[in-house]
Amino acid sequence: MPDSAAPARDRVKVTQAVPMLDLKRQYAPLRDELLTAVDRILETQQFILGEPVAEFERAAATHLGVDHAIGCSSGTDALWLAIAAAGIGPGDAVVTTPFSFFASVSAILRAGARAVLTDIDPATFNLSSKGVEEVLRGRQEVPVRAILPVHLYGQCADWTEFSRVGREHGVKLIEDAAQAWGAEWNGKKAGGLGDAAAFSFYPTKNLSAAGDAGMVTTNDADLAERLRMLRQHGMRRRYYHDEVGWNARLDGMQAAILSVKLKHVEGWNHARRTVARRYHALFHAAGLAECGTRPSHGVVLPHEVAGSRHVWHQYVIRSARRDEMRAFLAKRQIGSEIYYPVPLHLQEALKCLGYREGNFPEAERAAREVLALPIFPELREDEQQTVVAAIADFLS
Ligand SMILES: Cc1ncc(COP(=O)(O)O)c(C=O)c1O
Repeated sequence: MPDSAAPARDRVKVTQAVPMLDLKRQYAPLRDELLTAVDRILETQQFILGEPVAEFERAAATHLGVDHAIGCSSGTDALWLAIAAAGIGPGDAVVTTPFSFFASVSAILRAGARAVLTDIDPATFNLSSKGVEEVLRGRQEVPVRAILPVHLYGQCADWTEFSRVGREHGVKLIEDAAQAWGAEWNGKKAGGLGDAAAFSFYPTKNLSAAGDAGMVTTNDADLAERLRMLRQHGMRRRYYHDEVGWNARLDGMQAAILSVKLKHVEGWNHARRTVARRYHALFHAAGLAECGTRPSHGVVLPHEVAGSRHVWHQYVIRSARRDEMRAFLAKRQIGSEIYYPVPLHLQEALKCLGYREGNFPEAERAAREVLALPIFPELREDEQQTVVAAIADFLS
């Protein structure tokens, strides 16, 4: 069928390509600073831990307003370290969300504990505190020792409620803050809300390394000491192993790169907030924004909760025709992504948890409806107009 005979909606109209993420735009203005920092590591040969890592840890702790920051090899290892250092293992259970990246659950299993899941709040996609409370009030086959909420897409889980629930039930709170560097809850930064928090510096994150890297933060000095020991094969003294830890060390090169980027991350988060506000305005102006959490003819926009400072790691809309919309955008060379297409309780590898389809309807609906649109600090207004115009064409 010639293009002109195709229904208007299906005609391929490439206005301009819009990438989901373009890290080259971040690199260009930082190139000299980053190369100098990397060169210093090569000159001094401080490849693993040492002063470059300690320097980054001090700056990160100050930035987040926490007492201790422990650099490690990835966000996944940070989660495992936080759980293991808290003394959680076989015979314990941890409650978390079915709607997150795989590591939120796999780290619990790797620590030898049981993962108990409960559904999400459809307005924020974050773990529902009500659901957690029901689990804690119910009969527990294995005692729950911690709650592990994920600050999904860059917005803190409801920490007013989680602190109350944690206190009332005497369980620890571990933040999965992998996506939430700089996010706040009632003026307090993610990383200092719970007993411990895990961050990821995976290259797509708001604060990112040039490879894998992560961090655990805490205000508990004993926990910090244990975390440092566990990240280095359980050694306090060289070649004397007190416990079976792991190699979860941070490289000097990554720490040096992160130290440079740390100085810019506040500005980047500010820019992300501007980008999010612009999307909101453009969708409203186009008459596409729907209220509530159930999309029909338009799209449901992401929601920033009062008292929270969202850092927009992702800008995630809901659509009733998500897969068709994504294909339509791809034809126009507009990037988008689905975080996450399969909720964790339905993952092949997690069948062992014993859940089945229908157990967590909100997580399952989110997995069918969510679509993350391009967002990064350098995204231009005309590119956002292109994205919203394409969605308007699709929905017309
Ligand atoms: C919510 C969440 N938790 C944990 C992780 C794991 O981090 P990493 O990829 O650095 O191991 C990620 C990273 O993608 C994440 O998004």
